[in-house]
Amino acid sequence: MFDENTKVISVVGGQWGDEGKGKFIDNLAEQADVIARGTGGNNAGHTVVVDGKKYIFHLLPSSILHKNKVNIIGNGTVIDPKVLLEEIKKLQALGHSADNLKLSGDAHVIMCYHQDLDFLKSMKKIGTTGRGIGPAYIDKAARCGIRINDLLNPSTLKEKIRLNIEEKRQTIIELAPQDAEMFDSLGLTIESKEFYSKKYSDKNIPKLSEMYHEYGKELEKYVADTRAIMREAAEQNKNILLEGAQGLLLSMDHGTYPYVTSSECSAAGLASGVGLMRNGKALSVVKAYTTRVGNGPFPTELKDKLGEQIRTTGGEYGATTGRPRRCGWLDAVALRHLVGINGPHIVISKIDILTGLDELKICTEYLYEGEEISYNGKKLTTGTKIDFFPTDSTVLEKCKPIYGYSQPGWKEDISTMPRISKLYLEAIKLLTGAQIEMVSYGAEREKIFKRNKKN
Ligand code: IMP
Repeated sequence: MFDENTKVISVVGGQWGDEGKGKFIDNLAEQADVIARGTGGNNAGHTVVVDGKKYIFHLLPSSILHKNKVNIIGNGTVIDPKVLLEEIKKLQALGHSADNLKLSGDAHVIMCYHQDLDFLKSMKKIGTTGRGIGPAYIDKAARCGIRINDLLNPSTLKEKIRLNIEEKRQTIIELAPQDAEMFDSLGLTIESKEFYSKKYSDKNIPKLSEMYHEYGKELEKYVADTRAIMREAAEQNKNILLEGAQGLLLSMDHGTYPYVTSSECSAAGLASGVGLMRNGKALSVVKAYTTRVGNGPFPTELKDKLGEQIRTTGGEYGATTGRPRRCGWLDAVALRHLVGINGPHIVISKIDILTGLDELKICTEYLYEGEEISYNGKKLTTGTKIDFFPTDSTVLEKCKPIYGYSQPGWKEDISTMPRISKLYLEAIKLLTGAQIEMVSYGAEREKIFKRNKKN
């Protein structure tokens, strides 16, 4: 896929995350010299296979095991240093090193107060992963964030931590329950007001600062000017692979706001998150159906036995939180939105999961059923058919799917690419304007069809 004209390829999520990006990244990493992540943090989860064993990493780039390749965690990410160090140690315990890892000094740090705030405030409402992602990006935008470089400069670090704690302490204590409480869905414990009063007391600030400085010292050998590494690689005409996290519909700008993550998960957001905007190719990964984890509208969701069947066959449980993913039909309205933003190149994952279904449907339009509202210069009234993707959750919630396309399914082994499965792919192309570059039909590495250049 890399050639003289395509030196930078980004692999990004085309739906609500969990599209199976890892497999395509793994495939393309073989030909890449540099692999870089640029958005999100340990809300992401990808499976890495080491000596036949599966491990789930959240921060380390998927290709960390390729020793001769540079693996970058770029400026646009948010890093929980404790989690990153744990992942590095896990890798070392398996006999591998992370010496090929380069971490941007400008990446923002997820501090313990970010995680506490996320846990106490956003987890129930938005259904976040509870890892502190949103609050860390809030501080980045509010210009009071702490960056990886700060961890290595103890006096600056202590002062920044002090200012942040003074500002956030009261909110955290107010949000906390009087007594420790279980967070029902995940079995996690929210601590009591007394616990947080002690944790964020003036007396405890030096201890917290020391702890983060220690993390910094352990990470120091990996810290680098990652933009310079990217630039140099581009100047030397090397192959660069950008590894996206989450998916476009979770993007802060283009997703189902406010049920989104707090980073910009489009191809352009990823380019900014690594500091490299060169002519390249964006490959958006699209599952052959749709899934979503967490709260927020999902027009084609199947809340019936069929949804359950897809979840079971597809193993649709979150890699980070283990939550069951909501499953539904493919949504061509959302995919046209994707193609409009990231461009036409898509790759389809998990088409094998649809094998055996009697009928397949694709949503082609929505029917708006709600009170009259003004949206992007248009008046929407109940009964209006719409062919665009509303990025406002209150509007999308009132959109019912219109399944303008349906076809019989296939029972044959998908590795033979039955004619009827090709019809499904043709329909996706016609309904979305996308060009399908690859199709994955199983977890194993070799189970990928590549586009015949003539089509
Ligand atoms: P946050 O990123 O933890 O703030 O969560 C915000 C929303 O994004 C929630 O609905 C999460 O379930 C969702 N989310 C975050 N990361 C991922 C991911 O890697 N895959 C799928 N959903 C995600």
